[in-house]
Amino acid sequence: MARRKYVVGNWKMNGLTAALGEAQAIFDAAKAHPAVDVALCPPFTLIGPMLAAAPGAAVGGQDCHSAASGAYTGSVAAAMLADIGATLVIVGHSERREGFAESDADVKAKAEAALAAGLSVILCVGEPREVRESGGAIDYVLAQVAGSLPADFDASRLAIAYEPIWAIGTGLVPTADDVAAMHGAIRAKLGDLADSDAAGTMRLLYGGSVNAENAAELLGAGDVDGALVGGASLTAGKFVPIIVAAS
Ligand code: G3H
Repeated sequence: MARRKYVVGNWKMNGLTAALGEAQAIFDAAKAHPAVDVALCPPFTLIGPMLAAAPGAAVGGQDCHSAASGAYTGSVAAAMLADIGATLVIVGHSERREGFAESDADVKAKAEAALAAGLSVILCVGEPREVRESGGAIDYVLAQVAGSLPADFDASRLAIAYEPIWAIGTGLVPTADDVAAMHGAIRAKLGDLADSDAAGTMRLLYGGSVNAENAAELLGAGDVDGALVGGASLTAGKFVPIIVAAS
């Protein structure tokens, strides 16, 4: 079965309630492109209000804790996200891996907790610039995939986002050939780690400086099933053209 395109906006730590109109405009525009799955991951504070503004929309978190509850000040459990209507969560973003010292094992535990709570998961991987320059990007990313992949998963609820760290928020992007090579290597690795059905079903997203101008080329690269978009997902004017490019 063909994989549906998936375009996800990660608002990171951006957005007050005044931004809900942008989310409404994005989800309204997305209705004209039913072949594309569109989701937004705003800050925790906006998940409930965004769902109230756009009932039935795919809205998710940017992180979750691996535990179900407990003394973890500042954290949010996967079941809490599901409880307020979120349907997905991002785990292992490089800004969490680097800024909060999250290991592959931590990311794996979060992904497993999120799947157990009924959420879909976007598991992020990606190499730093020096690793790309040294020629070790594919080995580095495949090791992250092997270390972060949940022990057991339904491939229809797990996507991997390849986000080279040097491309995030910089305006730099890999060539379409480099993206295709990385995604092909990830899919082959999934075949080894899981099975060919899972490898064929799982969606692989590209993230890092995706915008209206480069979206068609990046989304057209081999084994790219969608995009995880940061800055350009904050407004309908910038995000909707990316949805259109995916359709
Ligand atoms: O999660 C999104 C990525 O970090 C990409 O961010 O589109 O602003 O480069 P960006």
